Amino acid sequence: MKKPLHQFASFGWMVCVGMLLATSPRVVALDNGLTLTPPMGWNSWNKFGCDVSEDLIKSTADAMVSNGVKDAGYQYVIIDDCWQVSRDSTGNIVADPKRFPSGIKALADYVHAKGLKFGLYSCAGTNTCAGRPGSRGHESQDALQYAAWGVDYLKYDWCNHGDESAEVAYGTMRDALKHAGRPVVFSICEWGNNKPWLWAGNVGNLWRTTGDIHDCWDCKEHYWLGWTRILDQQDGLESFAGPGHWNDPDMLEVGNGGMSTTEYKSHFTLWCILAAPLIAGNDMRNMPPEIKDILTDGELIAVDQDSLGLQGRRVRKNGNQDVWMKRLHGDSRAVALLNRGSSDERIIVSWEELGYPGPLYLSVRDLWAKNNLGKFAGGFTASVPSHSVVALKVSP
Ligand code: GLA
Repeated sequence: MKKPLHQFASFGWMVCVGMLLATSPRVVALDNGLTLTPPMGWNSWNKFGCDVSEDLIKSTADAMVSNGVKDAGYQYVIIDDCWQVSRDSTGNIVADPKRFPSGIKALADYVHAKGLKFGLYSCAGTNTCAGRPGSRGHESQDALQYAAWGVDYLKYDWCNHGDESAEVAYGTMRDALKHAGRPVVFSICEWGNNKPWLWAGNVGNLWRTTGDIHDCWDCKEHYWLGWTRILDQQDGLESFAGPGHWNDPDMLEVGNGGMSTTEYKSHFTLWCILAAPLIAGNDMRNMPPEIKDILTDGELIAVDQDSLGLQGRRVRKNGNQDVWMKRLHGDSRAVALLNRGSSDERIIVSWEELGYPGPLYLSVRDLWAKNNLGKFAGGFTASVPSHSVVALKVSP
């Protein structure tokens, strides 16, 4: 809760504050120099849940190097919940000795030797969402431990937080990480409960905006949401994202088996339009070629990672049709024409709704088809199959 200005503050002082607020950006980026473009990596949770081990992490890192995922830009290898089992007599966090017999430092060294970066999970509450020890009251101790282990990324969850304020709890860990001295990407995972886009820009590098993603088109169960439901909740959040501070619509489900290849392509495309963190959540060691092709597509990844660092927005929704647009450097636009319906639909986009003056002739490239379609006046129309997307790059 923001404190009200003191009722006896002088008028002049209030004018100064007013001028400052009016001229400052709404969200000030966390100044740790990291994630100037949305982070890319892999996280264990979506596919493996609590079934994590050093063998899984090592073989995943090996696979990311050998299958081209690392070369496509995926960098962070992140162990989610369940790596930790207890605290020792001095309060130090203890990794599961059966699943991580060589210890976390050795594992981080292994990942680093592959040219990748290493991430861990903890929670702002007393216990994690899976009931393991959380960091509450141990923030400094844990941050120092992470630095000593060589942790580069911390996902920090929000279960069992009692009545603590999110802004305070996440600020405490941000300060502890800073004090520990090792640059760490700080990933806030409080599910959008306290509108982190309003306050987390100078706290974390990314913040979850919703409950957990589920591997389906539009299902909803408890706090699990299909990706199109999450997509709908990103509309309007675009102004809060930028270099060093990203909205996080949750990790990718691409390749986890609950959707068709077409649907995974749509999910991936929209995450790129959103400038979302691209954290793969599938089994890197057993990837069918069509899944690898989606996750490593250079043209779509370039949309996500564009140097302008602007999150895309929905320009139109009518019925089953969505048109999304992300501004890119060079006055280009990435456009996604998404068909949520059960049969083919013709979807139109006009240059005017992309922010161009209407009469222009603009070049259109089909990003998935790898096809330059030519120059078009005023707009473009595509036939889009059910649950599919046509991804375009429109350029002057
Ligand atoms: C929460 C998070 C998930 C995952 C689990 C782990 O549900 O939102 O992403 O980290 O906890 O228990």
